[in-house]
Amino acid sequence: MPKLTGKTALVTGAARGIGAAIARAFVNEGAEVIVTDINVEGGQATADEIGATFARLDVASEADWTAIAEKFPTLDVVVNNAGVTGLEGPFDGPPPAHDPENAQLADWHAVHAVNLDGTFLGCRYAIRAMREKGAGSIINISSRSGLVGIPMAVAYASSKAAIRNHTKSVALYCAGQSLNIRCNSIHPAAIMTPMWEPMLGTGPDRAEREAAMVADTPMRRFGEPEEVAAIAVLLASDDAAYMTGAELTVDGGILAGSAATPGS
Ligand SMILES: NC(=O)c1ccc[n+]([C@@H]2O[C@H](COP(=O)([O-])OP(=O)(O)OC[C@H]3O[C@@H](n4cnc5c(N)ncnc54)[C@H](O)[C@@H]3O)[C@@H](O)[C@H]2O)c1
Repeated sequence: MPKLTGKTALVTGAARGIGAAIARAFVNEGAEVIVTDINVEGGQATADEIGATFARLDVASEADWTAIAEKFPTLDVVVNNAGVTGLEGPFDGPPPAHDPENAQLADWHAVHAVNLDGTFLGCRYAIRAMREKGAGSIINISSRSGLVGIPMAVAYASSKAAIRNHTKSVALYCAGQSLNIRCNSIHPAAIMTPMWEPMLGTGPDRAEREAAMVADTPMRRFGEPEEVAAIAVLLASDDAAYMTGAELTVDGGILAGSAATPGS
């Protein structure tokens, strides 16, 4: 029995990676899906492939969200997935510093504009689009980096930590308004998507680099986008009817322990 029949869902940053996997899983579970992205070509291709509708949306743009609200005034599920590290490139010179001593304010703001402003605007839109029915599910894609410090990607870590907290504020606000609008965060880590490509590179030592990157992951492998999508399906469905303000890690066990765990 499909879990999302009769529901309409919008997913941001769904041209590729985790967002595309979530959109595909939602379609497979019977939902009507709106794939959104700034990448028009990629977003349209994904939507065509999975049988969804595409709409261009830069999550950092309030005007874009207003246009989306006019086009899709009611919804059941919103997934705020679009996110950047600030290290995607390509860059003319060396990549910008993202450590706390050398990062530029403009680079810090640019990452927060997409990750945090985008999630704030997406949650605001979602509550308004779900208010009439008085029910819905908002899923915010945070990160392992929202739960621990990341010294070389401080804007990313800060924005993801703020997403975790905003999720709980939204959950409490909706419950306080007697709305059955649930809001939860997912915290993936090391999921094999194009986001990792600049760090993995090409060439003979790619496999070695890949293994080194998951050496500290208890399950010793990267996760698949579909393994995050399955959790998004759960949160979007009525099976998660009593879950709000929760944070779910999908990280191969990374956050279950630490380097200081006795016996490790
Ligand atoms: N891959 C991982 O290991 C991992 C780990 C933790 C968290 N995450 C989070 O999961 C989410 C998806 O990551 P991914 O690995 O699939 O990344 P990805 O880079 O493969 O895909 C991100 C998508 O977001 C889109 N995007 C970028 N800026 C946008 C904007 N301003 N408006 C709309 N769309 C925009 C891109 O065009 C792209 O299609 C992100 O929020 C990321 O931080 C990923």
